[in-house]
Amino acid sequence: MKAEVLLGLQWGDEGKGKIVDVLTPHYDIIARFQGGPNAGHTLEFNGIKHVLHTIPSGIFHDTTTNVIGNGVVIDPVILKREIDALRTLHVDVTRRLLVSRRAHLILPTHSLLDKASEAAKGKEKIGSTLKGIGPTYMDKTGRNGLRVGDIDAPDFKVKYDKLVAKHRELLRFLDADTDPTELEKAWFEGIETLRQLTRIDSEQYINDALIAGKRVLAEGAQGSMLDIDFGTYPFVTSSNTMCAGACTGLGIAPSRIGGVIGIFKAYCTRVGSGPFPTELLDDDGEKMRQVGREFGSTTGRPRRCGWLDLPALNYAILINGVTELMMMKADVLSPFDTIRVCTHYRINGELTNRLPYDICTAEIEPVYVDLPGWNDDLTGITSPDAMPAALLDYIHFIEKETGVPVSVVSVGPDRTQTLLRKPIGETVGA
Ligand code: GDP
Ligand code: IMO
Ligand code: MG
Repeated sequence: MKAEVLLGLQWGDEGKGKIVDVLTPHYDIIARFQGGPNAGHTLEFNGIKHVLHTIPSGIFHDTTTNVIGNGVVIDPVILKREIDALRTLHVDVTRRLLVSRRAHLILPTHSLLDKASEAAKGKEKIGSTLKGIGPTYMDKTGRNGLRVGDIDAPDFKVKYDKLVAKHRELLRFLDADTDPTELEKAWFEGIETLRQLTRIDSEQYINDALIAGKRVLAEGAQGSMLDIDFGTYPFVTSSNTMCAGACTGLGIAPSRIGGVIGIFKAYCTRVGSGPFPTELLDDDGEKMRQVGREFGSTTGRPRRCGWLDLPALNYAILINGVTELMMMKADVLSPFDTIRVCTHYRINGELTNRLPYDICTAEIEPVYVDLPGWNDDLTGITSPDAMPAALLDYIHFIEKETGVPVSVVSVGPDRTQTLLRKPIGETVGA
């Protein structure tokens, strides 16, 4: 069996959590492969709205196993909070969740370092979620990190103290708060919660499952434009959010990856700093924000909004090898008479449909085509056959410009507001 990968193609918050929840009944395992509690994946069903940060979005389904892979960074405090919230909803997390021993731990001082680093950058700050993501991945690649498996070692506390001492030096250098004592009680309580979970060699577990014919879906966090290598560097996150991240973040060989599901919004959003060629700073942008309730699931910050950006989308499709697109939040565009799509950038008078290396500094003028809006409430539609003609034209336009089929159209946040243009199981989840 081959694993399938689901990931965001824009700047995050595309609606990955909702779709993973919809697809989960077709899989045996849902596995997160990178990122950490910077992610906020929202699920809505039966009147419940739930935001997950570290735990994979298949957790609400009884027959599917959820794995936090080695590529994920875990803050035990946030993980405990997530588990407690799920328990109040009677979700048997202990049975349904497995955690890789190789996943790295976010220490309280990593979060302090994240805050200090952002403060030191001043106006140039990344707009990080301040969850300690960057400093934790720095310790991972710097070979200083603590991993989940270390909590079983007799000298765990010694290792912890050693790393904290190093962090305090760095914090002093940055003129920042160096004392994690207040945060440590909750952190060690989180470690106790982690001890109660089943810890595994997830690369073995997932490969064994694939060999045994089980269906695996790898769940990405953030989006391709936030990828550490291919995103709008330096305004990115610190992991590979692209498909290759599923190989390193779960230990799956490229030859064992089948379909790649690319999730995108019918428009674009971004939280934090960095380039956003199609950003709307006018009433239309504000309208998207209000109608789409575009406020961060993790930080509550207002999300920047703009029209769909095809050069960026096609770049993401290319680097990920996307085989199937799923378009989210089509309902949010209902109030617009005209819908604009950026097909090219004009840079120094030249037209291009490629993403420039210097995207952070180049003066980019987006070139748009205007398409007619549908001006129809989509939120009650239950069949793709009931989609207005203008929406269908919009989808056909995107399929033509990307060369990839759009298999799902989402018309509201609820699980049920999902229009399947092809039955699940025909291409993915088979
Ligand atoms: P993720 O990080 O990719 O999982 O996305 P988030 O959960 O951060 O953000 C997506 C937001 O849009 C959440 O509030 C979802 O409940 C909501 N959402 C998802 N799909 C739709 C949709 O089709 N229409 C509307 N109006 N909201 C949606
Ligand atoms: P999900 O999985 C949207 C953004 C932050 C910031 C940059 C770096 O919900 O789509 P970090 O804390 O990772 O160092 O921040 O990346 N960012 C996200 N934006 N959705 C996310 O996750 C994000 N995770 C990080 O706003 O600009
Ligand atoms: Mg999100």
